[in-house]
Amino acid sequence: MAKQIKITETALRDAHQSLLATRMTTEDMLPILKKLDSIGFYSLECWGGATFDSCLRFLNEDPWQRLRTIKDNCPNTKLQMLFRGQNMLGYRHYADDVLEYFVQKTVANGMDIIRIFDALNDIKNLQSAIRAAKREKAEVQVAISYTTGPVFTDEYYVEYAKRIRDAGADTICIKDMAALLTPYKTESLVKAIKKEVDLPVQIHTHYTSGLASMCLLKCIEAGADMIDTAISPLALGTSHAPTESMVAALEGTEYDTGIDLVALSEIREYFMTLREKYIKSGLIDHKMLATDAKALIYQVPGGMLSNLLSQLKQAGKEDKLTEVLEEVPRVRQDSGYPPLVTPTSQIVGTQAVYNVIMGERYKMCTNEFKDMVAGKYGTTPVPIDPEFRKKIIGDMEPVTCRPADLLPPELEKLREEAKAYAQQEEDVLSYAMFPKVSVDFFEKRRMAQLGVNPVLLDKDKKTYPI
Ligand code: CO
Repeated sequence: MAKQIKITETALRDAHQSLLATRMTTEDMLPILKKLDSIGFYSLECWGGATFDSCLRFLNEDPWQRLRTIKDNCPNTKLQMLFRGQNMLGYRHYADDVLEYFVQKTVANGMDIIRIFDALNDIKNLQSAIRAAKREKAEVQVAISYTTGPVFTDEYYVEYAKRIRDAGADTICIKDMAALLTPYKTESLVKAIKKEVDLPVQIHTHYTSGLASMCLLKCIEAGADMIDTAISPLALGTSHAPTESMVAALEGTEYDTGIDLVALSEIREYFMTLREKYIKSGLIDHKMLATDAKALIYQVPGGMLSNLLSQLKQAGKEDKLTEVLEEVPRVRQDSGYPPLVTPTSQIVGTQAVYNVIMGERYKMCTNEFKDMVAGKYGTTPVPIDPEFRKKIIGDMEPVTCRPADLLPPELEKLREEAKAYAQQEEDVLSYAMFPKVSVDFFEKRRMAQLGVNPVLLDKDKKTYPI
């Protein structure tokens, strides 16, 4: 029986997040949006992840306006975003009232599919987001943060997939952010999940180690329903498998995507011009495009490896990299095997660096590491040994409930703080995610409206009339 494989095109979010530090502007997207909308993609991933931060911080753009612009130009294709559970698009846990308001505004501005994940694969951290997204009638996709380690068997992922189903997800994604999947691991994992959980499954993997296309083909044969790809000028390297190659590979088979290669080639041409521009300006680094299997050797994400190296360089201990890489799995084991993705990759990595540099393990611990051991980020995949916990946090009572239950409502307070700058209801949410960065953006926006050249303004003057 024929089964059409559905494609999520990631050019507008993860592809440029992976290759050019999330710097693609709305202006660069605009000329190709209508064409992208006409292809017949399952969805266009175009918002969330680091795009929100990057719009405000680097591009002087309102992320909400970007979403509305994409929606206006792509009325026929579902828009998709990436959402970090209770952290949303920020880096801390938010109270439920902020989360609910964020989801409401996100859907009202045009979002169709919300892909939600938690760094620890703790379902408690996803429940509010799932409920809020369902209330707004968005399609809810819950992503499993894929990682490796002795406890991460197919059974572990099947158990988590069942919890995801029971929590009300419409679809499941296997999110291999660190490019650790190999073709046969993918096959066995997808088969195991499909056997036990009757939900559509999507695969998100990166090309870093050169295996992505093979993993995608194997997952399709194993029963997956959707895949993430990137149009070829923004594919390969640390990004995704090329859209055209996957469409061509499946053409004329029972998995035919129904997508026209000729139509895709027009999109390729447009993005090829952009790619040239980004290479010239240095935004795309050739190193990002080369295949690198280090992630598979060290089992840590590529971004984490470069962070570790730069932390060691700062301390003048570059020669300790191997020791740190050997320490990372031990710190993971001690702290309940967290998957390594933002923010846990930074927490585990920094602690491993401390353990090596200090010459004594856990002589000094970061506050974030203590918080993770104390359960403030949620429940770790494996329970933490009470002895170890005591060593790190003393007699402090660990958090066992849903961490967000400990947070009082905070929307009204944020509204009050953002009042002087807000020009639309959504501004309070930008402020909630990135207070300082948003205020800078709001001030620049106001100056532009007043026709004031920002360089002529007194840099110390913090407020401007609105
Ligand atoms: Co990704």
